[in-house]
Amino acid sequence: MADARPFHWEYQAPPVQREAFRVEGGRALRGVVPVSGSKNAALKMLAAATLTGERCRLTNVPQIADVAVLVDVLRDMGIVVDHPAPNTYEVASGDVDWLFVPLEAAAKMRASFILLGPLLARFGRVIISNPGGDRIGRRPVNLHVDAMRALGAEIEYRNGYYFARSPGRLRGADVVFPTVTVMGTENALLAATLADGHTTIRPAAQEPEVDDLIAFLVSMGAEVARTAPDVIEVEGRRRLRGADHHVMADRIEAGTFVIAAAVTGGEVTLTGAPREHLGAFLDVVTDVGVEVTEEGDHLTVRPDPRGFRAVDITTAPYPGLATDLQSPTAVLLTQAQGTSHIHETIFEDRLEWMEELRRMGASVDIPDTHHAYLHGPARLHGAEVEMSDLRAGASLMLAALAAEGTSLIHGAHQVRRGYENIETKFLDLGASIEVVSEGSPVPS
Ligand code: EPZ
Repeated sequence: MADARPFHWEYQAPPVQREAFRVEGGRALRGVVPVSGSKNAALKMLAAATLTGERCRLTNVPQIADVAVLVDVLRDMGIVVDHPAPNTYEVASGDVDWLFVPLEAAAKMRASFILLGPLLARFGRVIISNPGGDRIGRRPVNLHVDAMRALGAEIEYRNGYYFARSPGRLRGADVVFPTVTVMGTENALLAATLADGHTTIRPAAQEPEVDDLIAFLVSMGAEVARTAPDVIEVEGRRRLRGADHHVMADRIEAGTFVIAAAVTGGEVTLTGAPREHLGAFLDVVTDVGVEVTEEGDHLTVRPDPRGFRAVDITTAPYPGLATDLQSPTAVLLTQAQGTSHIHETIFEDRLEWMEELRRMGASVDIPDTHHAYLHGPARLHGAEVEMSDLRAGASLMLAALAAEGTSLIHGAHQVRRGYENIETKFLDLGASIEVVSEGSPVPS
């Protein structure tokens, strides 16, 4: 599908101002906190909406920076994205001006790569920045590219960008991944919905956000089914229709607030909590000594008065313990009696943040990039620390809330990527948090 139109773009994301959180710790959190819509479901649904030219309406979309970045990318491509009400977005990708996902987006958000599959399937071509390059992190996207090639796409890599095209319609295929990949599964799934023929994806990720995406695609007229726990099958269609969808609750945000209640010695009720998606995590925190009572979609959390017990935890693809809840759980384990072992099996850079936790008084040994030992209970004290990424940032906030004294946490933009109104939610639970502007824009 050649396109003679000039190749230009003005992608000017608004500069993110550097901010810090000043936290007075040692206050027990009490009250009710609503769980927002899932970041990791909503981002994929915004991408899925580009599979049709008809209008799609998504509700319960979290108002977070990652959503804003993806919406900007879609709009810069000429796709209509309306925001008629809080947490509501409508997407109409009747046509596009050009198909380009810039480095600036990938630098802010790896999930921008989820546009590869749908744009390739719908429009037959896309130029998309490599979010896994050494500029940004070690997170490769080779499995996504392999899956697109299996579906008949031609993809070249030059100067940090993938140049993808599909001569004619993508073809259904047997997509076999060497390891479970959430977004790899989702990219293959999205592309397959418009491919010619039958596609099988295995081992397909089992995260609940994938099933929420499948539900949205089916409402768009896609023929998709999970035919075994780790197998997804798709019968490609020529076109999909617009649809409405209410995004599922964010299980990672919910888990983060469970830990907040426990480590501050408070009592917090989460409303709209996805209890059914928190199995492995709630098993762990219950073993440690967190009391969780449920009433419908309300979870009430309080610490066991007898204190916390050390445990060994291992992260794994769903239904195992989510790697995104590993760092919040680590904060809880700093307060547990004894030595806890954390085995992080998914990512090699998800323990580095514990150097900051050590500055707050935690007793941590990190023999290698996949193992950490926490000795507790350790008295946490306020410190000046820096957020390195989204989940580690939220975990430093948890540690600061539990610590005696004042902490200054730099890099607040990290948590704003994925936690809706996080400081307001903590303030409403009685925390003492102040946002401190640090003036200079954040380098993109
Ligand atoms: C998704 O990332 C989530 N992000 C992550 O949440 C989550 O931690 C992760 O799944 C859990 O596996 C979104 O959904 C936007 P993977 P994803 O592909 O899909 C390797 C958060 O904080 N791999 O499942 O990028 C990879 O390096 C984020 O919300 C390849 O080698 O993760 C990792 O070791 C952080 N090549 C493993 O597979 C590839 O092409 C699993 O990663 C792709 C992945």
